[in-house]
Amino acid sequence: MDVSPGNSDFFESTMLTSMQVRPLRVASVAASALSLLALSFVVGSASRVGAEQTATQKRPDAANLAPYVPTPQEVVDRMLQLAGVTKGDVVYDLGCGDGRIPITAAQQYGARGVGVDIDPQRIAEANANAKRAGVAHLVSFKLQDALATDLSEATVVTLYLLSSSNLKLRPILTRQLKPGARIVSHNFSMGDWEPEKVDTFILAGGSRTLYLWKADGKIRP
Ligand SMILES: C[S@@+](CC[C@H](N)C(=O)[O-])C[C@H]1O[C@@H](n2cnc3c(N)ncnc32)[C@H](O)[C@@H]1O
Repeated sequence: MDVSPGNSDFFESTMLTSMQVRPLRVASVAASALSLLALSFVVGSASRVGAEQTATQKRPDAANLAPYVPTPQEVVDRMLQLAGVTKGDVVYDLGCGDGRIPITAAQQYGARGVGVDIDPQRIAEANANAKRAGVAHLVSFKLQDALATDLSEATVVTLYLLSSSNLKLRPILTRQLKPGARIVSHNFSMGDWEPEKVDTFILAGGSRTLYLWKADGKIRP
């Protein structure tokens, strides 16, 4: 089976580029912050700058598995179809962004959903979106590291992370998920674990690939 992911290299490089430029941005933000701090010290308002930085801080203890790039709604729908989601499922999105995958699973199938993300801004958006969609009773969102999340109740796990991040999650997924649980990844594979299905399609002129694996009780390091 050819599982080459169409233009996923593009997405991976887009994501990687975004991740690689982050240190530069951080350095320049840090430099600007230092100048601001010095200026604030002079004018006596340093405490306000410190408070603003703390309010938007991501979890410092967690690895950044991917930058925020939301999955288009058409692709979300297709991911849930590929997983064969039903009302009885518990859908976990690891790195949930604005919560659109668990929210759609709840809206369209009546499934329960859980999303985790290390960015407090995303978790706030996800909670607001769930309320707006009328599914707050079915979904929950946690400011939590995907690599430290208990997945034992999940029957479906969705991913839109980098291949290297999927590989970090692989031993956790294969150890914790019960046989029959499904994993669907948008655009990124999981090393030498052959997917059960691959769905490649064109959206807005670009190629997308979805991968489906089923947990079978075998732990894959
Ligand atoms: C490509 S976005 C995907 C968002 C959403 N799943 C979707 O498909 O629309 C990746 C998300 O993973 C989050 N993330 C990165 N590292 C993480 C970690 N260690 N634990 C949980 N979330 C993480 C980012 O903050 C970002 O929101």
